[in-house]
Amino acid sequence: MPVIAVIGAQWGDEGKGKIIDLLAEKVNMVVRFSGGNNAGHTVVNPYGEFRMHLVPSGIFHRQVTCIVGNGVVIDPAALLEEIEQLEKRGVKVDKLYISDRAHLIMPYHILLDGLEEESRGSGALGTTRKGIGPCYMDKAGRLGIRSGDLLEKESFLDRLRLVLENKNRIITRVYEAQPLSLEEIYDKYCQYGERLAPFIRETDVMVQEAVERGETVLLEGAQGTMLDIDFGTYPYVTSTSASVGGACSGLGLSPVKIDHVIGVFKAYTTRVGSGPLPTELFDETGDLIRERAREYGTTTGRPRRCGWFDAVMGRFAARVNGLSGACLTRLDVLDVLPSLKVCTAYRLGGKTITSPPSNSSLLARCEPIYEELPGWQGDIDGLRRFEDLPAAARSYVRRLEELIACPMKLISVGPRREQKIVVEEIVN
Ligand code: GDP
Ligand code: IMO
Ligand code: MG
Repeated sequence: MPVIAVIGAQWGDEGKGKIIDLLAEKVNMVVRFSGGNNAGHTVVNPYGEFRMHLVPSGIFHRQVTCIVGNGVVIDPAALLEEIEQLEKRGVKVDKLYISDRAHLIMPYHILLDGLEEESRGSGALGTTRKGIGPCYMDKAGRLGIRSGDLLEKESFLDRLRLVLENKNRIITRVYEAQPLSLEEIYDKYCQYGERLAPFIRETDVMVQEAVERGETVLLEGAQGTMLDIDFGTYPYVTSTSASVGGACSGLGLSPVKIDHVIGVFKAYTTRVGSGPLPTELFDETGDLIRERAREYGTTTGRPRRCGWFDAVMGRFAARVNGLSGACLTRLDVLDVLPSLKVCTAYRLGGKTITSPPSNSSLLARCEPIYEELPGWQGDIDGLRRFEDLPAAARSYVRRLEELIACPMKLISVGPRREQKIVVEEIVN
């Protein structure tokens, strides 16, 4: 039985939550490996509509063990709130576990995320201000506090004292803000620790053993390849490896154990926050897509920037992740458009290029070269077979498949679990 990674192939919000929820029907384990509660994965199923931030989107299936791996940064307040909301709505969390090695988002991370953004002025990155970047900085800077630390209260106090002294120096001297109280944070996090203790495990071992037993394991990506710290549009990225590489270090799983890598693509492009977006639409088509698709951030409520499908980025994401298949979501959003554009290359300094430059200021100067395809102007959200799609919709999908050089396995035609067209089964 396979290990399947499901990765965002654009700038996040591709519909990963929906895809995980529907694939999880036939799997044993779903694992998050990166990011934190900057993620917002929408799931619409018989339990209702949910916005998952930290809990894996497989939680709605009783047979699924859900794991928040070591690569995820956990805001304990956000996680506990999410667990509470799920339980209130009848979703059981008795098979949810979090890694003892996962770093914790602390109050100073959230404070510093805001202060750093303010200090960047017009160069702000547009982060979610959830403390993600500062938490990963501390992880790399060896100043982090991990979930397992909460279980050893005495050593936790010593550690927190040392770290907070450092943080308070920055908060007061660099940003001239008020210092944070050691006692308050310590007491609050000890309480969190007591509530989280039943969930904390050596999840790396759990994942490895599940794979050894031959179980089917889904790796739930967060964010998207173009937000990846190395391969995204740096510096307008998040602070983790959002591409498939992050799955190995974020779980303790060998790369040779991953059988399939599925990229999730929206049928067009969106982005929240700052940074270059070559195919961005500033006209009424962009507004129409935003309003029709309710393109507002799941985590922050910010309007998402919308544009045409960018196959230059798509091909790049397929290569970086070694995609073995793709899911195309939100095809139904394009139902009303008389014609569609797809970016096949960029023009930069009089030259035509077919892969994105690594430098963001160069990327911002790239002009998209478009190919125009006819729209289908008809409702497709009720269709369930590829051959039933209008010819123009089939041609659009086939052309994207050709351009990104990756087989299209599943097409999503609405937010609900059953609104899907299976081209080829991903999980057998
Ligand atoms: P994620 O972060 O990748 O899980 O994506 P988000 O949940 O942030 O954003 C995707 C949005 O698209 C959510 O509102 C989903 O309910 C919605 N969605 C997913 N697939 C489809 C689809 O095929 N059609 C439509 N109309 N909406 C979809
Ligand atoms: P999901 O998993 C879309 C973006 C933020 C900002 C940049 C850095 O739902 O696809 P951060 O708070 O991570 O330091 O912000 O990354 N961003 C996302 N955009 N979807 C996400 O997650 C995102 N997570 C972070 O908007 O531009
Ligand atoms: Mg999202």
